Amino acid sequence: MNVLLLGSGGREHALAWKLAQSSRLDTLYAAPGNPGIAALATCVALDATDHAAVVRFVADHGVGLVVIGPEAPLVDGLADSLRAAGVPVFGPDKAAAQLEGSKGFTKDLCRRADIPTAGYVRVGSRAEAEAALAGTFGYPVVIKADGLAAGKGVVIATSEAEAMAAFDAMFDGGDAAVVLEEFLDGEEASLFVLTDGTALMPFGSAQDHKRVGEGDTGPNTGGMGAYSPAPVLTAALEARAIDEIVAPTVRAMAAAGTPFSGVLYAGLMLTATGPKLIEYNARFGDPECQVLMMRFAGDLVETLLAVAEGRLADLPPAPFADAVAMTVVLAAAGYPGTPRAGGAIRGLEAAAADGAVVFQAGTRRDGDRLVAAGGRVLAATATGPDIRVAREGAYRAVDRIDFADGFCRRDIGWRELAR
Ligand code: AMP
Ligand code: GLY
Repeated sequence: MNVLLLGSGGREHALAWKLAQSSRLDTLYAAPGNPGIAALATCVALDATDHAAVVRFVADHGVGLVVIGPEAPLVDGLADSLRAAGVPVFGPDKAAAQLEGSKGFTKDLCRRADIPTAGYVRVGSRAEAEAALAGTFGYPVVIKADGLAAGKGVVIATSEAEAMAAFDAMFDGGDAAVVLEEFLDGEEASLFVLTDGTALMPFGSAQDHKRVGEGDTGPNTGGMGAYSPAPVLTAALEARAIDEIVAPTVRAMAAAGTPFSGVLYAGLMLTATGPKLIEYNARFGDPECQVLMMRFAGDLVETLLAVAEGRLADLPPAPFADAVAMTVVLAAAGYPGTPRAGGAIRGLEAAAADGAVVFQAGTRRDGDRLVAAGGRVLAATATGPDIRVAREGAYRAVDRIDFADGFCRRDIGWRELAR
């Protein structure tokens, strides 16, 4: 089977790495891919916003499965265009991708389906926001832009002054869709569940490190490191999260005529009264995908095709190695602001000794050199029987990489290591 993978990040390098291990795979195409992916796939210059061009490519190259990595093409309806052309696709269509694309949509669905989540009010103007603020939650209050904001649309305001500053930024003199939420206290964990719209296949858990600085300080990023599984999400809590949050979501989406097919990535807060939904993503996390793929022991082509074709109920539970995986992101200086481009990267072969895998994200070939071309540049990933061994492996790989312009957090896994 020929497979087309869309995207160019560390998540997609990890997907390509696992897809390439499948006995079902003939040719793997990636668009646009990156230099790491190019070692595993034929990279092609396809514009994911040009749906007709993607559909044409699929027909011309006998592609039997399209895997959509990032959220933007999902929210933009690329899966709809492919399905309309009869192509099996891993990833939800536009209506279902609203679970990630609109916070208000998801909150309304949670209310209708009685899914545990933070109390909220949707507002459309600054006046409504100020009225809601006066009448509801107290502080801290969570203020969110409704649409996709690349992790930058959430403010946790601890005072009225901070809330007003957030409104200044979000309304910026005009109207905007904003959600105010009750603050949830607890530890966060991410749960991944594959679904074809009906059947569910739990697909592992992870914990991310969103802030740029050690000790979880500084601005938010796309994620500076992760490990899997997340031991705080015990089997009992995971079962509860599936029963009370994920399964009712999948049922509600199907009942509304907009079944969700793909991976549901549930951001959970483990509160004193049980797991509550913080948000959904309609795709794998980056860098959570890197650690999930290191542990997934099944055939990824087979599994994603079963999702795409609505045959998930026929598959046994997803097999995962009984190991811990950790990934440490190397970012270019300046990230998450303006990252410095062009920094030379060497030593990836040495870093990949001892079973570590260095996934590439923002990299570019410059002649025979590999250079930085993005914020998050590499994800050094290793497994071990426990988190300490996984961590040693990941940082050993980091220390063998020569990337003078890069930096990483040295405390990935700190919560678990401190327990
Ligand atoms: P989101 O983009 O919705 O995932 O929010 C980004 C981050 O903000 C989350 O990972 C949480 O750390 C935090 N957050 C979001 N909503 C809440 C909430 N209701 N209570 C506490 N923290 C939250
Ligand atoms: N690492 C967080 C995300 O992918 O949304």
